[in-house]
Formats: sequence, C-alpha cells, structure tokens
Amino acid sequence: MDVLTCRRDGNIAIVTINNPPVNALSAAVRQGLWQMVETLDADDAVQAVVLICAGRTFIAGADVREFGQPPVEPHLPDVVDRIEAARKPWVAAIHGTALGGGFEVAMGCRFRVAASDAKVGLPEVGLGLIPGASGTVRTPRLGGVTAAVELVTSGVPVGAARACQAGLIDAVIEGDLEGEAVRFARAALERELPHPASQRPIEPMPEEFWAEARKSAGKTGHQAPLRALDSIRFATEHPFAEAMRHEREIFLELRISSEAAALRHVFFAERAAPRPARLKDITLWPLSTIGVVGGGTMGAGIAAACRNAGLPVVLIERDGEAVAKGVANIAGIFAGSVKRGKLSAEAQAERMAGVTATIDYAALADCDLVVEAVFEEIGVKRAVFRQLGQVCRADAILATNTSYLDPRAIADGLPHPERFIGLHFFSPAHVMKLVEIVPTDDTVPEVLATVFALSQKLGKFPVQSGICEGFIGNRILKRYRAEAETLVCDGVAIAAVDAAMRSFGFKMGPFESQDLGGLDIAFLQREGLRAAGQNVPDTLCDILVRAGRKGQKTGGGWYDYPAGSRAPQVSAETERLLSAHVAAGRDVDADQIISRLLSAMAHEGQAILNEGIAASAADIDLVEIHGYGFPRWKGGPMFLAGKV
Ligand code: NAI
Repeated sequence: MDVLTCRRDGNIAIVTINNPPVNALSAAVRQGLWQMVETLDADDAVQAVVLICAGRTFIAGADVREFGQPPVEPHLPDVVDRIEAARKPWVAAIHGTALGGGFEVAMGCRFRVAASDAKVGLPEVGLGLIPGASGTVRTPRLGGVTAAVELVTSGVPVGAARACQAGLIDAVIEGDLEGEAVRFARAALERELPHPASQRPIEPMPEEFWAEARKSAGKTGHQAPLRALDSIRFATEHPFAEAMRHEREIFLELRISSEAAALRHVFFAERAAPRPARLKDITLWPLSTIGVVGGGTMGAGIAAACRNAGLPVVLIERDGEAVAKGVANIAGIFAGSVKRGKLSAEAQAERMAGVTATIDYAALADCDLVVEAVFEEIGVKRAVFRQLGQVCRADAILATNTSYLDPRAIADGLPHPERFIGLHFFSPAHVMKLVEIVPTDDTVPEVLATVFALSQKLGKFPVQSGICEGFIGNRILKRYRAEAETLVCDGVAIAAVDAAMRSFGFKMGPFESQDLGGLDIAFLQREGLRAAGQNVPDTLCDILVRAGRKGQKTGGGWYDYPAGSRAPQVSAETERLLSAHVAAGRDVDADQIISRLLSAMAHEGQAILNEGIAASAADIDLVEIHGYGFPRWKGGPMFLAGKV
C-alpha cells in the first residue's frame, strides 16, 4: 500500500497520507511528499492541492523509530520548503492532532483548515529538542510571536479555535473536512493568494517581553524550552533563511544531548508501560463499575480518577458521618478542578452523579473491581476483605491500595484469591500518574492484565512490582532518605541537602518533602516493625517525631513553619534535638550530595532488579519520575547510572 495517494476533484488534487497508526513522517512519507510536489507542479490540470490524512489523525509527528538515528534524506525542512515553494497552493486539512513535524508540514502549506476538534502543537521540547523544520521560524510569522512562544516553549497543543484566532489556522470546519477543504481551496483560487509563511513579516518584540518569556520558559529547569525561545527570538531578528540555519543547528545539537537521550528513554518507557508484551494476548475481564472502600485521602482520589475516566463508582465508608465526609472529599476534588477552569459545572455535576456512597457493603455486589483504601492496619484491612469476600461476585477483582503491608497477609482467607491484587496509587490519586501493580502468587494473568488496562483507562502509568517492603518506590525512597540522613549525620546542613536536590531538578529536597507529607508515616511504619520484634535502629526522623515534630502539620519537622507558614525555616530546635547524633558542620558541594543520593537510589534499584521485584530498569525510572518527582529530563536514577 502506498503511503501517499492522489486523486482529483476537478482542478483540485487531493493528496492523502496513509501511514497508520498516526501518519508519522517516516522517510517514505517525506519522499512521497517530495515527489508529489514535483508531479502536481507538472500537471496543468491541477490548480490547488488539498493535503489530508487517512485514519484517526493528521501527521502526528516524527517517526519514533527514527528517534536518535542519523537523519535520512529528504530532510523535513527541505520537504516543508518544497511544499511552500510549489507552483500550486497547498491546503492542509487537519483532523486529530497535527504535531511537531506534522504541524510544520501544515505551515509549509499556503493554507490550513482544521476540524473543530483538531489540535495543533509543537511538542518537541518534551523530547529535549526544539522543532527542527521551521517550527520556531514559521510559527511566529503565521501566528505572532506571543502565540509562537507559548506553543513552542510549553510544548502543549492548542485547539483549532484558538489556533484560528492566532492565525495559525485559516478556517475551522464542522462536518465533512475533505469536502470543505476542497471548497476552501477552490474559493482561495478566486482571490489573491496570501504570502507563504516564510515571506510574512514578523513583529519585533521589546526586551521586557523576552525577559518575561525567559523566566517562564526557565521554570521547568531543562534546557530545551530556553533554547526554543532563543531560536524564536533569533527568527524575529534575522532573515528567514538565516533563522532556519540557526534553528537547524540548535536542533542537531540538542538531538545528541544527554537531555534528549534521557527524555527519549522516558518516552519509550512510558509508551511500553501500559501494555507489557508479556500480557499481550491475555483476555481482559470486563470493567464497568468500580467500588472503592474508604473515602479518605486516597479513596476519594481513586474515586475521582475513575469518574474522570467515565466509570461509575460505589463508595463504601464505615458510618454515616464518614460517608458524608467521603462524598465531600470527592466533591472537593471536582470543585478544585472547576475553580482552576479545568472542568465545567455540568461535567462536575455529571461526575458526582456517578458516585453512589453508602455504608452498605451489599452495594458492591455488581462491581467488577473494588479497591480498598482504608487505614493502613492489617486488622482493619482483613476485616474489609472478609466482607468483600462475602458480598462481591466471585469474578470481581479485589485490590488493596496498601503502601507497606504484605498483600498476601491482607488476602489471607479470601475466597478466590486468584482475583486479588495490589493496586498502589500515589497521592493525590487523581493527579499522580504512577500506579504500582502488585500481584501475589495466586493472582491470575487475566486479573493482572485487566488491572493494567484499567490503569491505562485512568491515564496512569502502571508498573508491576513484586512483593517487598515498600514495593519499588517506597523502598527506594527509604534508602534515599536514609542516605540523606547519613549526610546530615556527617555534618552536612539539612538545607544544603535540600538545596542540592532542588538544583538537580526535584521540586523539593528530601527533608522539605518529608515535612510536607508528614514524618510520622515512616515513623509509624518503623514502629510497627519494632513491635513485630524486628531490630530497627532509631533514625533522626524518629527523634524528631518523638519530640512532636511531625512536619508542616505540627508547625515543625526538619524545619520550622511558624504561624502556619509553608516556607521552611532552618530550625534551632531540630539542631538541638539532633546535635548528639550529628558531626561538626562541614561544607560538601552540591554535586557530591547529588551523587551520593543518586547512587543510593540506583543501588537500591539494582537490588530490586536482582531480586526480580521490578521487570526492568526502565520501570524503576518510571516509578521515580511519576511517583517521586524525579526530573524526567534526567531520565531516572537507573538511566543516569547507565543501567538501562
Ligand atoms: P485516610 O485515613 O485518609 O482514609 C482512610 C479512610 O478509610 C477513612 O475515611 C476511614 O473512615 C475509612 N475506613 C476505615 N475503616 C473502614 C472500613 N472498615 N470500611 C470503610 N471505610 C473505612 O487514609 P489514606 O491516606 O487515604 O490511606 C488509605 C490507604 O492508602 C492506606 O492503606 C495507605 O497506606 C494507602 N496509601 C496512602 C497514601 C497517602 O499518601 N496517603 C499513598 C498511597 C497509599
């Protein structure tokens, strides 16, 4: 099958790209376009060309199989230039998403029309790149500098209506895209043609504009958005051809950067995560109604995530008051989304209408999957599963959200243990993308595969974990925190450790983030092990908790938070409490701190791999990036340690 076909509607040629699944710009597509311009230029019967795609989307970007490979001719900038220089005007007819090179091809066309639900964007910064085929040069000429800066430095696509307002799209089309595009092309032939994008004037912007844009592009901490901004600025101050050379130089430089390699690694890990090859041919169980037991922090978040994915939810709480509180917790999440402009009032009402809340476990009788998110106490959890075993169908999947408890102990005595599994969401569960999936020896593959499919439906990245204390993520977190405490014991200031990890790219250092989450969680877990007879030595954290310092919620933890403030202040009280355990202060530079903490993570990761707890090093990196704030442009601890 040809990736490019051409047919005629009178004097309009309709060129269709058919390169499933997303019409990526493979070498064959680039060659096809290159050749097609020549063929149609030579055809006197053709006066204009509509470029459209078969399947679910317009060209959605580069061919991922060519990522990181040497470029193959014809290069995309040349293809785009050639379309622009065609003797006949080309009209891009966009549906789905025109992304990256796809949108650059569209910008080479003289006109762009788009279905009303289409999106256009230049997401290259997400891969550590800048657009490489005129995205930073044509976009400001077509849509203005402000729109270009937003589109290119954020990497976030925009809808057709907004793109049209900016001038990036000429018309938004309802209904028959191809027919309307042909009509548009015919009408355009009646008028004087506009200049091609490369010849349009560009508005110069004042210094303050660039300063502001730099500040906001720099927020992410990685270099690609800043380099993209530089390229747009250069394009506003230099002629087109020079700007194109400059853009290409930066593009080629970034292509071989460590940041781009890291982001490619994460991209492929994310793509692979929801559909592991080992689960490919396994039959999924139907999932239409979800039960959630416990409407606290996690249960409410899980319920909201399910509602966002269109799944009806039955919420079980322990008494009438807790039912009301659970419903209020869920309502609070949607109210927050409305306030931030992310959800309409109708959608909010629809989300809440899909929640049934009760104390009556019998309401779970029709649920296909029930997630338990009650207190982290084995007795409470086992009592819940005893009830679930009685009221749920024998083929209903039963999952626990436990953080640290052994799922096997929770499921002990459950009828049909083959449908039991650990499903460890992260807080806030409607936001955080990671789900650790923890099967037991009894769990059947159908249950495992179905839970992977559910995670995908919820927009999450599922990672399978074997059973060990803390699973993959919390086990590495424990080691990371222990190493951070060792640094403090060696005389490094708490604030210096946090500052180093922030400079690396974490939003918060280990101590600040523990203050936010609460020091008592890890403390109680250690106390549990001690109560069970294990020899668990005291940590610095334990000393603080025993002194009542549990973090922000008690006004102090590693730092002080006077009068409800959220800004950490170095604490004399903490210094006093820990003084007997901490060596004389010494300066250690940030690089050393970072390297100590990263290698602690990578070592634990390696142990996790050796024990078969994680299936791959890439899975461990996903856990750290999506569950623990590891900066994605660094690729994850295993990638950095060269273990991928
Ligand atoms: P939470 O204390 O906010 O909520 C627990 C809820 O369970 C309460 O609303 C309580 O009324 C309800 N509950 C207790 N016994 C019940 C019963 N027998 N039947 C029905 N409802 C009952 O606790 P949170 O933070 O939501 O944690 C829940 C689970 O999720 C725990 O296992 C925890 O380890 C785990 N988890 C917590 C995370 C967090 O960051 N908070 C992260 C990941 C997992």
